[in-house]
Amino acid sequence: MVYLAEKGFDAFGVDVSKVAIRKAVAKARERSLRCTFYVLDFTQTQKISKSFSTFDLLLDLGCFHSLSPQDREKYAYSLELVSHPSSLYLLWCFLRGSRWSYGPPGVNEDEAERTLSKEFRVIEKRMLDTSFREMLFYIMRRDANRAKCLASNPNSGIESGDPSNFSNYSRG
Ligand SMILES: C[S@@+](CC[C@H](N)C(=O)[O-])C[C@H]1O[C@@H](n2cnc3c(N)ncnc32)[C@H](O)[C@@H]1O
Repeated sequence: MVYLAEKGFDAFGVDVSKVAIRKAVAKARERSLRCTFYVLDFTQTQKISKSFSTFDLLLDLGCFHSLSPQDREKYAYSLELVSHPSSLYLLWCFLRGSRWSYGPPGVNEDEAERTLSKEFRVIEKRMLDTSFREMLFYIMRRDANRAKCLASNPNSGIESGDPSNFSNYSRG
């Protein structure tokens, strides 16, 4: 958020950890930047809906891959609440079952697009095999027609889990 504020964005950051928010506030102050930070659990959908309107750009650096399957559904709803029909959403997450046996559980290869398929469409997906864990990077856009399209074809969201359906899916 501090980086985005430096680039001129009106930046808002959410973290469930007070320590993380305290560090972010200190960083923003050091650079005399205006960012707004909240100690909030992003899966608390009621609090999220009361606290925010919608944003043009949403960024997740390590939240989604930490959550339980039930919380991922709540996360998807929160994301819907804070986005508008053309919001961009950037996500990075660790892949499940990588070499490390500790840290966040990570995601299955098609989990993010499945969980978010009701409202979001994948524009770009990349996999990067780092020395410690494999990571997935996504650019998604909220798609105004997505909910309508899914209602008429309930299986259409599942197709999006097949990487071969993405012309720009690549392994880095
Ligand atoms: C890899 S860290 C990234 C921290 C920071 N966003 C950054 O870019 O430096 C992932 C963060 O997700 C936060 N997190 C995990 N579950 C969360 C939730 N349910 N709601 C909000 N934040 C959460 C953790 O507290 C942690 O600080």
